[in-house]
Amino acid sequence: MSKIRTAVVGLNMGLEHAYAYKLAERAELSWVVDLDESKAAKVAAELGCKYATDWTQVLDDVDAVSICTPHHLHAPQALQAIAAGKHVLLEKPLANTEEDCLKLISAADSAGVSLMIAYIVRYLPALRKLKEIMDSGRYGKPIHAECWVQGFLEPMPNTWFARKSTLGGGVLFSHGCHYIDILIWLLGEPEQVVSLDTRNGTDWMEGEGTAHSTIKFVNGAIAHLISSWGTRFQEAPANMHIHTTDALIILGRDLWTVEVVTADGRQTLFERSEQDEAVPGRNALGEIEHFLESIATGQKPETSGEDALRSHRTIWAMYESKGVPVKL
Ligand SMILES: NC(=O)c1ccc[n+]([C@@H]2O[C@H](COP(=O)([O-])OP(=O)(O)OC[C@H]3O[C@@H](n4cnc5c(N)ncnc54)[C@H](O)[C@@H]3O)[C@@H](O)[C@H]2O)c1
Repeated sequence: MSKIRTAVVGLNMGLEHAYAYKLAERAELSWVVDLDESKAAKVAAELGCKYATDWTQVLDDVDAVSICTPHHLHAPQALQAIAAGKHVLLEKPLANTEEDCLKLISAADSAGVSLMIAYIVRYLPALRKLKEIMDSGRYGKPIHAECWVQGFLEPMPNTWFARKSTLGGGVLFSHGCHYIDILIWLLGEPEQVVSLDTRNGTDWMEGEGTAHSTIKFVNGAIAHLISSWGTRFQEAPANMHIHTTDALIILGRDLWTVEVVTADGRQTLFERSEQDEAVPGRNALGEIEHFLESIATGQKPETSGEDALRSHRTIWAMYESKGVPVKL
């Protein structure tokens, strides 16, 4: 099969996509696009591709497009790309409303193109290992999980991050969505959710800057996610702790280490290899290769539109809960 010609639109997070397309054997990075011409020109010179400021002008010259723009642009841009018959890798979230998510899923199905959400965390090697461990049942049944996603976002008043209509919510929807997705992926179907949030410390944004969110799963396990963009100092012990009947399984804060604590002591099950150190695009490579594979085989990607909608619906139910548990 000839190389899949790709374009990346939006060159902040999109830079990671562009580097990963350069690393991926199946892809040819043809175009990078940004409204900021100097940024696009600089990236194009570094990566040896063409650049543009109007993404619609490059559609005829590519097979697939990564859309890495602000959230309110996801639905209109992806629908336009799908209508042009292009495969779409869309940064999270799929869209800010359920109606737009459903439109995207149905448009991609009708056009017969691949629509994948860029849940980068899912495709990291340590997370693949963690999934394998959980599915094997090697350490017994899951009881509960704790996940800490805390950081400090420099205030950006009057930007798309600050408005609910453009961001689609707050930190839980924008960043916590990765970990709601991961918890569902690892622990199964959610049954009931509840969440409380605050704008304390992040009053520059309309949506919540900090959220404490809990899921009860059909299998009886529970999980709690703390997400924040207002935490100047953090001492979270890990990204995730999963307590099972026989062990504590730990996902490191850098998302590259998996350890387990059992009656036999502490053991490292996965760690970053030297070849994975400091290579631009390495974090997104698993995700990009999965997208290219889905195009080559015609199979739905793992993080399909439907899959993304399930995690978004879980978050919307959390918003609805306002501290009172909501059944899904
Ligand atoms: N997966 C992750 O871990 C992760 C991390 C950060 C951001 N993101 C996602 O990436 C997307 C972009 O976020 P960001 O933080 O990079 O935003 P940003 O605002 O920092 O950057 C967006 C870029 O897109 C460009 N842009 C905007 N509209 C455009 C258009 N119509 N055509 C071409 N370029 C356009 C802007 O000039 C800017 O360079 C969002 O969906 C966000 O949720 C994902």
